[in-house]
This record gives sequence, structure tokens and C-alpha cells, in this order.
Amino acid sequence: MTDDRNDGEKKMAHRISEHPILGNIEKGRCVSFSYDGKEIYGYEGEPVAVALKAAGVMVHRYTKKGHSPRGIFCAIGRCTDCVMVVDGIPNIRTCITPLKEGMDVRTQYGVSDMPFDKQREAAR
Ligand code: FES
Repeated sequence: MTDDRNDGEKKMAHRISEHPILGNIEKGRCVSFSYDGKEIYGYEGEPVAVALKAAGVMVHRYTKKGHSPRGIFCAIGRCTDCVMVVDGIPNIRTCITPLKEGMDVRTQYGVSDMPFDKQREAAR
């Protein structure tokens, strides 16, 4: 069973609310956080990556060499494909980082939250 209700004015994405093996899924309170400067919502304590996926965010970082997009892969903290800049700190594994109200989550470009074209301009 899924839960696609709205929490007041806050639109929450399609989520699993009941699972045949896990049973009823406990959720924290609905909190807001920032994703690349935009306010979005998730449940306190769920992994940041889960809140982002529920909001439709699939790309978490771009590789330094090929600028290739990466997102959730292992979802258990082993592969580093989900790393992002969280509260100014790069390389945070969002699949194992609990969501807190007011977090500042940014796409990671190489090891920075600055897009590659701006990094090139800044290097001149
Ligand atoms: S998805 Fe592999 S470390 Fe997060």
C-alpha cells in the first residue's frame, strides 16, 4: 500500500506506507530542508536519499573526470554514488544520513557544490 496524501500545504510524493514483510512503516514528522536552494519536504530520520527520491531527485553527484551523473546505487553506504554536499560538507553518503529539519543538501560536482562551468570560471 502506498501513501500519496498531502500533509497540509506540503506535497509529499508517492511512498510505501505498508509492506508485507516490514509491516506499517513508522515515519518521523514532516520537515522541510533545502535541495540546491529549493525548499522540499521529507520525514525526519529517514535517509536524505529517500527524501530526495520521493521528491523526484535522481542525480546526487557528477563525477570529477567524466562529469557523469550518479545517484542511489547500493543504498547501504558502500559505493559513494549518493554522496552530496550536506551543510557545506562534501562526500556525505546520503543513503545512510538521517534527514533533519533545515538541512542544506546540494548536488556535488567532483568534490564541490559549484557546477563545473563555474569552477572553470573561478579558476581563471
Ligand atoms: S548509494 Fe551507495 S553509498 Fe549511498
